Amino acid sequence: MDRDGREIVLGIETSCDDTCAAVVAGGTEVLSSVVSSQDPLHARFGGIVPEHASRKHLELIVPVIDQALDTAAVSSASLACIAVTTGPGLVGSLLVGLSTAKALSLAWGIPLVAVNHVEAHAYSLCLRHGNVPEPHLCLTVSGGHTALIMVESPLRTRTVGTTLDDSAGEALDKIAAHLGLGYPGGPALEEWAAKGDPHSVALPRPVIDSHGFDFSFSGLKTAALLEAKRLSSGGGAAWKADLAASLQAAVVDVLVHKTFTAAQHFEARAVGACGGVASNLYLRESLARQAKAEGVQLLLASHEFCTDNAAMVAGLGWHLFREQSFASWQVDARPSWRPGEE
Ligand code: KG4
Ligand code: ZN
Repeated sequence: MDRDGREIVLGIETSCDDTCAAVVAGGTEVLSSVVSSQDPLHARFGGIVPEHASRKHLELIVPVIDQALDTAAVSSASLACIAVTTGPGLVGSLLVGLSTAKALSLAWGIPLVAVNHVEAHAYSLCLRHGNVPEPHLCLTVSGGHTALIMVESPLRTRTVGTTLDDSAGEALDKIAAHLGLGYPGGPALEEWAAKGDPHSVALPRPVIDSHGFDFSFSGLKTAALLEAKRLSSGGGAAWKADLAASLQAAVVDVLVHKTFTAAQHFEARAVGACGGVASNLYLRESLARQAKAEGVQLLLASHEFCTDNAAMVAGLGWHLFREQSFASWQVDARPSWRPGEE
């Protein structure tokens, strides 16, 4: 407990390539959030190598947890519980966080709660906005996921749309890698896009008016690759900025259109956006413009908590703790755990 009697939760997140630990009081007050990025390790391969990711997590997990506790000036004796991401994600990566969390829970004699990574992303809105209107429709858009989630409450969520193939972040990352723009691809592509013309290259808006609230980005990726081949024959590099801007606009058009159509359909009281791709300024501005035009309240996760972090895990874990939804010792990693699924 802290001085105000709020339970303190240690969050652990290792679902992909970031080793994260955080200390959060009362579900929303972030006392520390440590993220150790593995970007330099994976950059030379142009993408995440699962085996390298889990080995690096093993090296980093204990120092990262120590740093989170030190920064928060909290000892293990003050912790109410440990919240750990158990899925979805890379199984080897998930197991490092989960095994560490189990060991600490046993050693410190405090309960463990199992958190869904995508639901935790959706919860990141609460870290910035506190009490959010419910139900709201949350666009969770990252490298691993692109989903529309109706949030009735932090622990009651329903997936109403997902991607049929690639996630939005994956499409951006792959094209950025192909164009040699830098790693990680999403932020690099955004920088290039700022120098280009979004109307210069004609790209499709896949399934924008079909397939309900589901997305599809693999066709767009192929179209962008074909355009890259055509444009590169002209020489120079200016076309790369134009293609980056056009691709970013195509992805954002689809995301914004589906999000607001779904919000209206499901009578959401607000629209939210979170996940790594939601730190993209063009997406944030486009969502803000549409929200203003439709008179809808917009909730955006803060930049710090868009990409993977453990504060969102500890925050959502606090709600599980309050409900006494503790995980048993048998709890396992769930690489394909869908948000809202028991
Ligand atoms: O949430 P996150 O850290 O990890 C997953 O759960 O996947 O998201 C990482 C994804 C990557 O695809 C990355 O390229 C993308 O988010 N991303 C961006 C930006 N920053 C990160 N995409 C576009 N613009 C950005 N500024
Ligand atoms: Zn994520």
